[in-house]
Amino acid sequence: SPSDPDLVERARAAKAKLGDKVFVLGHHYQRDEVIQFADVTGDSFKLAREAAARPEAEYIVFCGVHFMAESADILTSDDQKVVLPDLAAGCSMADMATAEQVAECWDVLTEAGIAQQVVPVSYMNSSADIKAFTGRHGGTICTSSNAKRALEWAFQQGEKVLFLPDQHLGRNTAVRDMGMSPADCVVYNPHKPGGGVSVDELRAAKMILWRGHCSVHGRFSLDSVNDVRERIPGVNVLVHPECKHEVVAAADHVGSTEYIIKALEAAPAGSKWAIGTELNLVRRLANRFAPEGKEIVFLDKTVCFCSTMNRIDLPHLVWALESLAEGNLVNRIQVDKETETYAKLALERMLALP
Ligand code: 13P
Ligand code: SF4
Repeated sequence: SPSDPDLVERARAAKAKLGDKVFVLGHHYQRDEVIQFADVTGDSFKLAREAAARPEAEYIVFCGVHFMAESADILTSDDQKVVLPDLAAGCSMADMATAEQVAECWDVLTEAGIAQQVVPVSYMNSSADIKAFTGRHGGTICTSSNAKRALEWAFQQGEKVLFLPDQHLGRNTAVRDMGMSPADCVVYNPHKPGGGVSVDELRAAKMILWRGHCSVHGRFSLDSVNDVRERIPGVNVLVHPECKHEVVAAADHVGSTEYIIKALEAAPAGSKWAIGTELNLVRRLANRFAPEGKEIVFLDKTVCFCSTMNRIDLPHLVWALESLAEGNLVNRIQVDKETETYAKLALERMLALP
């Protein structure tokens, strides 16, 4: 839907008043009405780097979800302030791994006698606490665009990886990108005693996958891939690696949001694409590339917005920008010092990956 012209004008005015003091970052899943005000758009990896590269901005307004704003705070200097326009913009996947659960898991691995062989690799989509745990235990963060390099690095440091919290990204990367067998993976369920796996299974596994998933990408099914191939002969199926393994295995291409955009930019006129990722992005791409004769459809017919990404809407953005312009710091995301120190270690290992 078109944005309210009054709100558009107010956002523009507040941003102009703030000038160089503010830098607005927008994740690709954000609404059109919000993304139009982003100084930079990107996937999780690009936005983390952009945040770190803006030392002159007093305020970073993060149009995305809570874990992204936390990561930006960790990577910026102490006098820079990161603002999340709606504090309720969380991520259900990040919530699937709490600090207590992960500490308990580490105890299980210690009792099984394997903790010293295990290197944690945590997906960006996790709380600062989980990133700090990862840093403390010699591990790295990864995003969907560097998960393979992160795993390769981790297997140079140790024999096993504990992959948190997205089992699908972990399995897809291990099996599809690194040629491991699905049998090399076990799933650790934080809601079951001992993770619901035997000590023997833990000892035999190379990849210990946390039982977390994305509630948006988890909805794409093998049926949706088969259906779209039947409906649109010659279609290219392109999905995000947070999709289930059977979906990724049936797709033609797999990659992060930034990868998806680049693939469509490079696609020839007349090509047909079914995209398995969040709907705001797919719609924007369908509109953008239609004039070039590229047919882009959503992989599944069920509506698939990320409800927490969508919480950042134009009224929230206007409120945040106007507050800052009036000198009121609202919705600051600030990670405590101790957590930040170790989380930063893990994030910097990611930024240093070859
Ligand atoms: P990327 O932007 O890194 O592909 O991540 C997708 C996502 O789910 C972010 O929440
Ligand atoms: Fe979290 Fe999935 Fe939404 Fe990304 S799309 S923010 S992983 S719930």
